[in-house]
Order: sequence, then structure tokens, then C-alpha cells
Amino acid sequence: MTQPNAWEQILDYSNRANPYPLYAELRRTPVTLLPDGSYLVSTYAEIASLLHDPRVSSDITRNPAAAAAGVTVGDGGAEGADGAGGGPGMTPTFLSMDPPDHDRFRRLAMRHFGPPRTPGRVAGMEARMRDIVTGLIDDMAGRRRIDVVEDLAYPLPVTVICELLGVPPGDEQRFRIWVDIALQSTDPRLDPETQQKKRAEAGAELRSYMEELVEAHRQSPGTDLLSAMAADDGPEGRMEGDQLVSTGLLLLIAGHETTVNLISNGVLTLLRHPRELERLRDDPELAIPMVEELLRYEPPVHFVPFRTALDDIDVAGTTIPAGSSFTLLLAAGNRDPAHTDDPDVFIPDRRNNQHLGFGGGVHLCFGAPLARLEAQIALSEFARRIENSQLVDDPPPYRPSPFLRGPSHLLVDIGGIAPRTSGQAAPT
Ligand code: HEM
Repeated sequence: MTQPNAWEQILDYSNRANPYPLYAELRRTPVTLLPDGSYLVSTYAEIASLLHDPRVSSDITRNPAAAAAGVTVGDGGAEGADGAGGGPGMTPTFLSMDPPDHDRFRRLAMRHFGPPRTPGRVAGMEARMRDIVTGLIDDMAGRRRIDVVEDLAYPLPVTVICELLGVPPGDEQRFRIWVDIALQSTDPRLDPETQQKKRAEAGAELRSYMEELVEAHRQSPGTDLLSAMAADDGPEGRMEGDQLVSTGLLLLIAGHETTVNLISNGVLTLLRHPRELERLRDDPELAIPMVEELLRYEPPVHFVPFRTALDDIDVAGTTIPAGSSFTLLLAAGNRDPAHTDDPDVFIPDRRNNQHLGFGGGVHLCFGAPLARLEAQIALSEFARRIENSQLVDDPPPYRPSPFLRGPSHLLVDIGGIAPRTSGQAAPT
């Protein structure tokens, strides 16, 4: 029997709970040529350099491996690290564009999300995030067993991204099913045709939902991000209709799945390191470096696929020829001993933790400040209020995706819930 190749091993579900020994093996050869002619890059220095290399394209229409896999622009789930939703033929988002178009569309969206024009958008949500977490933990009172995914890690980011974008409460039920289908379509156990079909169906539903929402916000704008993008005529003009629908979906889905995994991977790691959980309980500020360490040690996004070399590129003695496709294995780079001392040890207060959890270069995660704040609040409140927590299954069951990796459920037995502090407002 032939040995499975490196990519087949990454897809192999039996490696999902602990892919790190496989990654260590892969790092022995920084660049691996796969049988389909594409490449896999697994060491820190090489990944970091390619993330910043202008000879590398994120444009999926140029990528031979994406074409072979039938992944088209805007395909839900597979377009990039955040699984932009959509359907075949849909306008691409800045995630899969190159400069200068990428930069322009990213600026048009960032104008309403962060500095320099809207510096308060994320910080302004902190109190609301605390209220949401307080309410979710209050709801656990009287229970002996919780599912951290369903009870905390999923509802927090979903509520936050919906409120940020101006998605009406209750609509979440409508699109959760399509988002799930789009993400299931990345399940490597499905044949490519079924994957494509599922993506297309879910993408079409999501797209028409977002078109409706954009139209509603245009008719009666609120103070949310979607209204701001729909109504603004900044110095660079207005975001066109199709682009706005695609960007709205990108943010909705990116805001969903990645942060869920950061919080669940975080709780799992803390339960495996009870002393660190104890330290966080005593010092909530520790959540700040701890979340960075989690983004290195158990990152929610394991790789970025479908990069294309625009020229011959020498990487650690191997030439990636012009026109080839390659994948950057961020999670392997994060544990490269040439970059990080004791990389397999969880050390929340590491200094100089320059991880690859949010990617890097021009596509560095747009939502990073939001995701960081949500995870810091969720983890510090979990540590402070949940008493005598015990993991039920170790390892827990994992979602199928090797790409957006995290537990599907995280059952935890709990002794009780500590009261909220007197300053905490009742959630609305
Ligand atoms: C822990 C949570 C998150 C992680 C680990 C994460 C990870 C990443 C990574 C690795 C990239 C780079 C993709 C590439 O180079 O192709 C990226 C890009 C992006 N992320 Fe996130 N993300 C997270 C949360 C979010 C949230 C909450 C949002 C939205 C509010 C968001 C929006 C985006 C967007 C729009 C891009 C594309 C940026 C560009 O192409 O310029 N992400 N993210």
C-alpha cells in the first residue's frame, strides 16, 4: 500500500485531535511538493516571508489547484481563511484580491470598522460583550454539565457580529443552517462534486439573504457597519452593491466560525492546564497575553490555501515555479522551534510572541481586534465564574475541517456558578 502523502495526512480525521506531531514531521522539509504539483510550506520564517512577498497572489482565479478542485470565486467555505460565503460567479471579496484592488476595498470597509476614521467601533462594544457573556454564564446556573461550544463559544461571536453588522435578532436561525452547510462542504471526506454542490446551494441562499439585508439597510440606515458601508460616500467613493453583499457575507461568516474555535480551544487548553486557569482567575489581565499564546498554540485557522506564485520563488532551497499553487501551514509555523522556544509548551506570558494566527502581510486579519477582545472577555469570565470545572472527554470530538479546526462539542462538568460582580449590569 502506498503511504498517504502529506496533504492526505492533513485531511485525515484521525489527525484532527492532535495534528502537531505530523506538523513537526513536515517541518523537516520546509517546502513539500505534493503529487498534484502544488506545494506545502510549513516553517515559520518561510511562511512569514511568503505572507509579505509581492510575488505571491491571493487571487483565486489565477490558482491552478482551486480550478482543479472546482473552487470558484466567492464559493462559500473554501475561498480563504475565513470561509467567505457566496456562490459561484459571485463578486470576489478583498480576501481573494491582490493590491491595489485589495487595498482599496479593504480601506472602504475598514473606514467604518477601525482607526483612523472609526477608532471606537470595537472598543465601544466591550460593555455589550461583557453583558452577553454575563447573561450566557447566568444561564448555566443550576446545571451540572455545560457544552462550552453551544453555551458560550458560539453564541458570543454570533451575537456580536450580528449586532455589529445590523442583522436583526432572530435572523441567525435563518442563516446558521446555510453557514453550517457551507462549512460542511469543506469536509474532506466528501467527494469534490458533492462539496461543490453543497457550497453552491448554501452560497445562493446566503447571498439572497444578504442582498435583502443590504437593501433594507439602504432604505432605512441605522448606526451599524452595514448601513455605514451602504450609505457612505467617502473620498474613495461608495462600495458597489455586489461588493457590499460579498463583503457583508465575508464579515458575517468570518465573524462566526473562527472566534468560536478560539474560545473553545482556549477553554480546552485551560482545562488541560489547571494552574493557568487558576492564575487567570486571580489575574484577569493575564487574558491579554494568554489569547496571543492561544493563537500560536491552538490557532483556529490552521492554513491558508490557494496562494499562487507570480514568479519563480526560491524558498529554503526549493524553487516554487511561477504559476504554482501553494498552501501556508500557519499552525505548523507557529510551533517551529527555530522561531519559538519550547513551542509545544503553553506559556501564556511569553514575550515576543509573534504568531501567525491572524496570518500576516496585506491580508492580516481584519477582525483581529474584535476577536481578541471577545476571547479575552469570554476566557477571563469563564475562569472567574465557573467553579470546579472538569473536562468530560479528552480529546473532545472535533469538527471535520482541518482548516478551521476546533471541537464540535466541549462538555464540561461544573460545580457551580459564582455571582456576577456588583458592577455588572443585567443583560438586555
Ligand atoms: C480568532 C478569530 C479569527 C482568526 C484566527 C482569523 C484568522 C484570519 C487569517 C489567518 C486571515 C488571513 C487570510 C489570508 O491571508 O488569506 C484572516 C483574514 C481576514 N479576517 Fe480573520 N480571523 C478571525 C476573526 C475574524 C473576525 C471576527 C472577522 C470579522 C469581523 C474577520 C475578518 C477577516 C477578513 C475580512 C479577512 C481578510 C483580510 C484581507 O484579505 O485583507 N476575522 N483572518
